[in-house]
Amino acid sequence: MLKVGLTGGIGCGKSTVAKIFADLNIPVLDADEIAHRLVEKGRPALAQIQLEFGEDMLNPDGSLNRKKLRELIFSEPRQKQKLESILHPLVYQAIQTALEQLSAPYCIISVPLLFETGMTHLVDRILVIDCPVEVQIERVKIRDKLSVETIQSIIDHQVSRACRKAKADDLIDNSDTDYGLAEQVKKLHNLYLSFSTCRD
Ligand SMILES: Nc1ncnc2c1ncn2[C@@H]1O[C@H](COP(=O)(O)OP(=O)(O)O)[C@@H](O)[C@H]1O
Ligand SMILES: [Mg+2]
Repeated sequence: MLKVGLTGGIGCGKSTVAKIFADLNIPVLDADEIAHRLVEKGRPALAQIQLEFGEDMLNPDGSLNRKKLRELIFSEPRQKQKLESILHPLVYQAIQTALEQLSAPYCIISVPLLFETGMTHLVDRILVIDCPVEVQIERVKIRDKLSVETIQSIIDHQVSRACRKAKADDLIDNSDTDYGLAEQVKKLHNLYLSFSTCRD
């Protein structure tokens, strides 16, 4: 099965595009969702986080204090690496397991940090959702109610727009509201279907 890695900076429109593929009945695996589930209350990864970062990373009910953890990893790069070394292998493993259970002409694997985590070798083809940084900031400001400084800092921690575009096999331009996302997705959908018929 052809595996298409869908990526892009925060707010570029990954989830929006992934939904359009899903509406075409294409399976979509989402690395963020998988990571989110891995640290739910009672899961082994949460115990590891507790061990590594201390009791106060948990809420009184035993669930992860996501805000506190986010603040910690953004202020200390070493802690960010530590968290990633716990989560990335588990996310990778979970994606592999999910892939084994799929039967479809192709699938979309949405990995926001595809390049940063070195997960590129998990996929056969890279689809980048692209828009200017100013548009990212505007969208995330509205969606997540974050300050421009925080959003800029998140963007600064991700690979640059130019770098993503250079590594893309396919690109969706989501710079504006009326860029015909559905048509762009449909074109790629047909391309991926045509590839899948050429594969074993
Ligand atoms: N073409 C578009 N026109 C208008 N709003 C959009 C468009 N694409 C994305 N958005 C909005 O921008 C925000 C970020 O998009 P999202 O798909 O969540 O990005 P990502 O998953 O890459 O972070 C969301 O609130 C989404 O509804
Ligand atoms: Mg998203």
